[in-house]
Amino acid sequence: MPAGSNAYNSLWQVRTDAWSALEESTAQLDLAGAQQRPVEQLAATTAEALDVLAPIERFWAFPGMQAFYKVRQLFATGKYHRCATLVARINRTLATDSYRGGHADADADDEAYEHEVGPAAQSRQDRPYFEVLVVEDMTEDQERALREELRRWRRPDDQFLYEIVVVPSFDDAVMAARLNFRLQACVVRRRFTHRSRHDCSSLAQFVSLGECEDLMDHSRDERAQILARTLAKIRPELDLYLMTEIAVEDLAGRLSHHFRRIFHTREGSLELHLSILDGVAARYRSPFFSALRSYSHRPTGVFHALPISHGKSIVNSHWIRDMVDFYGLEIFLAETSATCGGLDSLLEPTGPLREAQQLAAKTFGSRQTYFVTNGTSTANKIVVQALVQPGDIVLVDRNCHQSHHYGLMLAGAMVTYLDAYRLNQYSMYGAVPLREIKSQLLALRRAGKLDRVKMLLLTNCTFDGIVYDVQRVMQECLAIKPDLIFLWDEAWFAFARFHPVYRPRTAMRAARTLAETLRLPEYRARHDAQIDEVGAIDAADDDVLLNRRLLPDPARARVRVYSTQSTHKTLTSLRQGSMIHVFDQDFSQKVKETFHEAYMTHTSTSPNYQILASLDLGRRQAALEGFELVQKQIENAMRLRDAVDQHPLLSKYMHCLTTADLIPSEYRPSGIEQPLRSGLPNMMTAWDADEFVLDPSRVTIYIGNTGIEGDAFKRSHLMDRHGVQINKTSRNTVLFMTTIGTTRSSVAYLIEVLVTIARELEAQLADMSPTERAGHERAVLRLTAPSAPLPDFSGFHPSFTDGRGLPTREGDVRRAFYLSYNDNYCEYLMPDEVEQRVEAGEQVVSTTYVTPYPPGFPVLVPGQVFSPQILAFMRSLDTPEVHGYRAGLGYRVYVDKALEIAAATRPAPPPDLAGPAPASAAADAIPSTSPDAP
Ligand SMILES: Cc1ncc(COP(=O)(O)O)c(C=O)c1O
Repeated sequence: MPAGSNAYNSLWQVRTDAWSALEESTAQLDLAGAQQRPVEQLAATTAEALDVLAPIERFWAFPGMQAFYKVRQLFATGKYHRCATLVARINRTLATDSYRGGHADADADDEAYEHEVGPAAQSRQDRPYFEVLVVEDMTEDQERALREELRRWRRPDDQFLYEIVVVPSFDDAVMAARLNFRLQACVVRRRFTHRSRHDCSSLAQFVSLGECEDLMDHSRDERAQILARTLAKIRPELDLYLMTEIAVEDLAGRLSHHFRRIFHTREGSLELHLSILDGVAARYRSPFFSALRSYSHRPTGVFHALPISHGKSIVNSHWIRDMVDFYGLEIFLAETSATCGGLDSLLEPTGPLREAQQLAAKTFGSRQTYFVTNGTSTANKIVVQALVQPGDIVLVDRNCHQSHHYGLMLAGAMVTYLDAYRLNQYSMYGAVPLREIKSQLLALRRAGKLDRVKMLLLTNCTFDGIVYDVQRVMQECLAIKPDLIFLWDEAWFAFARFHPVYRPRTAMRAARTLAETLRLPEYRARHDAQIDEVGAIDAADDDVLLNRRLLPDPARARVRVYSTQSTHKTLTSLRQGSMIHVFDQDFSQKVKETFHEAYMTHTSTSPNYQILASLDLGRRQAALEGFELVQKQIENAMRLRDAVDQHPLLSKYMHCLTTADLIPSEYRPSGIEQPLRSGLPNMMTAWDADEFVLDPSRVTIYIGNTGIEGDAFKRSHLMDRHGVQINKTSRNTVLFMTTIGTTRSSVAYLIEVLVTIARELEAQLADMSPTERAGHERAVLRLTAPSAPLPDFSGFHPSFTDGRGLPTREGDVRRAFYLSYNDNYCEYLMPDEVEQRVEAGEQVVSTTYVTPYPPGFPVLVPGQVFSPQILAFMRSLDTPEVHGYRAGLGYRVYVDKALEIAAATRPAPPPDLAGPAPASAAADAIPSTSPDAP
């Protein structure tokens, strides 16, 4: 690859650039040849571009290796004019994607070529195009014959068009799956080699082949199986087919779970061709969208709610016609309250909605998927209500989204808040270290409360892009508590399923891998070895368990995993489109009914059909082009990072925070500081090994040196003046997210805006008086110096704990919340008064959530005691927006009498859970685990 290439994992971009460079150099070569000027330099540039393309062209159907060889041959024999013409044609076709119209044979004569890719081919190009990988070591003639044979089966009314890419080896197949995002299917034939014949060293930056035993020691069937498993890991969406010339019936019995269909070679290719089209059509289906579209075109008489249906209340109106002008009629044609006539009911789906959800489950790797039309805020409440009963203990990151705080409060959970690691320098939290989770579980075990622990709830990835090692967290927690349920809030991570490096760190993939691992005999052996070393976990010492990687007992552990995803945040969906994905081995037996009730509790009886249809289409898109889109999203993020960090002016005032900045080294055993920058294989190593990794598509820019506070930077500079929308800021950072909708032009615009801001700052600085400059320097110092440390969770007042057994951290937020509905129990205190009381050793207790924006997490929850650390932090904030604090009145807190009443009215324990009677002194103490308990 070109030296210094920073195309990250985008071989596609390297290829595009190389073809453009080739077009330019061959055109100049042609000119120089005609004018009899020296050509050495141009010939060297041309040769270099050809060398870049040589190892990679074989992974794409167009222009194909034969055309590429032709280019090389024309160049080598000095036929520069013909060479330049052919290269120009290929590059033009690639740049306009016009090969998608059919078999564009780059070397055909002009007329035939025009027929294939020119305007006449336009209608064919409207049909989606894809490529099919064929893995077999075959001769050029055999390859050409197969290509022709498959083309012959094409019919004008086929839904799609495809071309084949033939590779001869396992290695080439793996590389093609990684690099060619147009592939939708793969046909494995029986004769292929293991290692590639080509020198693949130049591709190491883009694809790692990993260690793999020598396949040639295996039988052909085994080789096919290993290849199928490997491809499914990289691209689970690919339809895999096996073609064999031996006992196909026997193979079908043994291998059918790896392949969509198995064919006999001699029976010709028609069935294969039809199956390939059918496989893609199955993913292309969007049952609910299609049902809604056909329904919208039927004439209806509406004697139901919704006058807007079919635009009826609008089209004859004199005053709101601009509504139709703006939105178009179609959207109103698709507005209906009907649940029959081809449509379906979200609350009890039996038709197209049910099918759409099943397709989503397949695409996202869950066992069940449910659509939600009120965002992940609602999805979270549904899952919590479905699984948590009042009194159940739930461990949750305090820094989680507000929907969890409210959901857990409504459910009556006893909430144990977990502390994420702190990034005081940026006034941000990271994620919750596994050690913290394990130590809380072990504290609950010591207190005899483990049986009441129901759920662990974490955000993956966090707002700032910190990603957990999901499988490891679940594995180690299940070792301590084998029936623990996990809710992973993946509001920001729906896209992650579609990239092979991200996928293992998603809840659904980790759940599946864990369930499969627990069934393996090798795993049982490892678990037996653990017993030999530390004995049964239930009896093992806390320190031992904290300091080693734990394996759950395969005979007891249940894999019970839920994930909620805001499809609208990172994939295509209208706002509020969200999904709940379930991988719960006990779902049918234990949860189905309560899940249904919870779903009914929170779901409107008039769900928005446009949102549902967009979820269906968003799923289709992700299933067919998610891999490509996510790959490009990461490239755009890296372009943004490079553009900021390498710009001489920008880098004076701002820089992008790296993995090393946001994840302390103790959580990064790989020691890799900038995983993606150092090549995709390095990224894979870090993502394999590290406790936390950073999602490169979320770019946090440090702006402390501008002297402008994050929130002001966002509002006054980015939004108001330049229309750049961003979501999150901290005191000295702003977060830019790239998504599948980010384009190179939008990245370029952002850079332009940042440069404008930096230039203006330079100009202002140049004009500043000494006093003004001193003011600016003070602002920079304030933003770059460490702020008051972010506070840990202080603890619940004993009146809101259950008062039983050894004290642990959990508290009853619901009781603490509702008690404050009685005004007589509450009073307002200004910060100074709270401070005086806390200094005097009193316990001051919040009645409500107190949440400053930014940073946007509750510093206090109902029932929580104020601590000096919290007060210091609140004092250091200069954010105008603090929910739960009233400027003229101060904090709302409980009067002492209310706390006495709360202690006296604690609910009695359920009969089967009654522990030993509380030794009142111990029970009333603030849990010893809270670091800054007063
Ligand atoms: C971690 C997290 N979970 C849930 C939500 C809520 O998602 P939605 O906006 O889809 O309701 C958000 C929103 O920002 C979030 O950041």
